[in-house]
Amino acid sequence: METLRAENLVKTFTLSEKQRKALDLTERKKTAVNNISFTANSGEVFGLIGPNGAGKTTTMRMLATLIKPDSGDVFYNDISAVKYPEQVRAKLAFLTTDLKLDMKATANTMFDFFSRLYHLPKPQTEIRKEELFNTFGISSFADTKISKLSQGMRQKVSLAISVIHDPQFIILDEPTNGLDIISARDVRNFILDMKKRGKCVIISTHLFDLVEKVCDRAAMIIDGQIAVNDTLDNLKVGKSLEDAFYDYYLKYQNNL
Ligand SMILES: Nc1ncnc2c1ncn2[C@@H]1O[C@H](COP(=O)(O)OP(=O)(O)O)[C@@H](O)[C@H]1O
Ligand SMILES: [Mg+2]
Repeated sequence: METLRAENLVKTFTLSEKQRKALDLTERKKTAVNNISFTANSGEVFGLIGPNGAGKTTTMRMLATLIKPDSGDVFYNDISAVKYPEQVRAKLAFLTTDLKLDMKATANTMFDFFSRLYHLPKPQTEIRKEELFNTFGISSFADTKISKLSQGMRQKVSLAISVIHDPQFIILDEPTNGLDIISARDVRNFILDMKKRGKCVIISTHLFDLVEKVCDRAAMIIDGQIAVNDTLDNLKVGKSLEDAFYDYYLKYQNNL
């Protein structure tokens, strides 16, 4: 079984004057992620759920080797992301809301560009393209400029491109944010399909509905810490996930 193991991740940012004002903080430093550990396995969808500013994106960026933790590490089948970021990157897909697509490009040209980056041979590129464009219904707008596409269409293009190299670990930061209901459903189906194919999928979101629909296990993250981490059934204790999480939130605040 393939496993991603986050171990005692810590990340503190030094804030600029402007950031301090925006966050209404007097301290010069903000610990965005404060000792986070969890394990996600292949064939399952693991969710990180929490309010804005909880540390989800920072955690995801450390998983994806985009930023280095101050301490702690992430192990992909026991390979350290801190020591071997290149090796780990080849195994993962990372999708984030602030991913920039080239507005003048098209889904077709972007796909070809990234296929070359991943050294995918031309015949394989064409097969993979057809498969992924079909999955996401991209074919009908594959030659339309990205600038003319809706946010939902752009997200589908980003997703298709992120998995060109057929990675084992798929890390999606707020994958349905700002999408219309149809695109959000396509993205959900994609997540479930990846799970069925035995991939290890990790999503972060503030949407309870998404977690209830796709996650096998989830952790609630508050102020850079994991308040609770369990299977969805155990988390819900017979309630809606939203109600259950609100109770955990109050309990967590009371224990501070
Ligand atoms: N590059 C950065 N510099 C300074 N502070 C940051 C930076 N990135 C995130 N933060 C702060 O860390 C905290 C967690 O942010 P983030 O991980 O984006 O949370 P989430 O994704 O859960 O909304 C927030 O208070 C945010 O303002
Ligand atoms: Mg975020």
